[in-house]
Amino acid sequence: MSPTATDLVRRVASRVTTPLLPDDYLKLLNPLWTARELRGKVVEVIPETEDAATIVIKPGWGFRTGYQPGQYVGIGVDRDGKWHWRSYSISSTPDASEDTLSITVRAMPEGFVSEHLVRGLEPGTIVRLALPQGEFVLPDPPPAKVLFWTGGSGITPVMSMLRTLDRRSTMPDVVHIHSTPTRAQAIFRDERLALAEKYDGLRMVENFDDEHGILDVAKLEVACPDWRERQAWVCGPAPMLEAAEKHWAAAGVTRSLHIERFSATLTASATGGHVTFAASGKEADLDGATTLLEAGEALGLQMPFGCRMGICHTCVLPLKKGIVKDLRNGAEYQENQNIQTCVTAAAGDCVIEI
Ligand SMILES: Cc1cc2nc3c(=O)[nH]c(=O)nc-3n(C[C@H](O)[C@H](O)[C@H](O)COP(=O)(O)OP(=O)(O)OC[C@H]3O[C@@H](n4cnc5c(N)ncnc54)[C@H](O)[C@@H]3O)c2cc1C
Ligand code: FES
Repeated sequence: MSPTATDLVRRVASRVTTPLLPDDYLKLLNPLWTARELRGKVVEVIPETEDAATIVIKPGWGFRTGYQPGQYVGIGVDRDGKWHWRSYSISSTPDASEDTLSITVRAMPEGFVSEHLVRGLEPGTIVRLALPQGEFVLPDPPPAKVLFWTGGSGITPVMSMLRTLDRRSTMPDVVHIHSTPTRAQAIFRDERLALAEKYDGLRMVENFDDEHGILDVAKLEVACPDWRERQAWVCGPAPMLEAAEKHWAAAGVTRSLHIERFSATLTASATGGHVTFAASGKEADLDGATTLLEAGEALGLQMPFGCRMGICHTCVLPLKKGIVKDLRNGAEYQENQNIQTCVTAAAGDCVIEI
């Protein structure tokens, strides 16, 4: 990929201020200007429901706003002097005329970052950003027949898709089934219902668990009898995604199923150990539940990451010494193997190359 104008300015800034880091000069001019990391400024926090809010962010230098509907960004927030990173689907629609992007966050019970984003974030706060990525995207042009099946905060990437289809005026034949525990927890409800009014081709099916019971695959069959003929984008709680995977596989139409997970199921545990991050010389004693990604970040290292749940492989680093364990399935990795730091923990003393 050829460098953008902002990439070139960053490089020039790095050269003219060498040997001193350019960040110190740039940050004096504007806190969003930095040659080392991507930043954004919180412009607005819009309450959506009792436990969810949309955060509108104005990215600074070097952030390419040409994301695809359905992709996610990494957000780093400063809490108590430490940067904490999480991934969030972008809920806004990509538009060259917009200089902001939005994420929509549901505050998880006792969730360290989400609670803060929904209830404690002030406009004007500077956050760190990682570039948009992800394969859960809607092609352009979209397929002729689409099924969106979403649950809870899983609406966010699909909302970006719906808004994009609306903006491009290319709404195909879409069935959107959305479940929430209660009516009051349905994010973007008015906007979704207004879109369904606007387009004959868009059919909205709502399910409120406390009124209708859980929407399982049997109810899906009733709500959308021709689901086998549709390209499906499915995002929601883990049990819903597992049910979808089994249902599509049983019908032999797995290729038409696109799934986005918000979390990995980490059921295994490791013994922990003393971990050294070789290039930086940082080290720590870790328990067997802390991933190497979390540990590196807690030590202030700029660890590579994407999904933070074992899918994208952006976080892969070489294990120089020792043994680590994959917390999803207990698989062990030995020295000189590449490891996914977001889902592995120390199983004894080890050395990681970063
Ligand atoms: C690709 C992707 C896209 C995403 N998009 C969105 C989105 O659009 N909107 C959204 O809201 N979220 C999204 N997420 C999820 C998001 O990244 C965070 O995982 C989520 O907000 C929780 O983070 P947290 O720091 O608040 O919770 P954490 O503090 O990390 O905790 C997560 C959960 O575990 C529980 N927990 C924490 N510690 C313990 C413990 N010791 N024992 C037992 N339970 C514990 C907490 O109660 C909480 O429910 C996405 C994730 C991915 C990977
Ligand atoms: S960050 Fe995606 S696999 Fe580790």
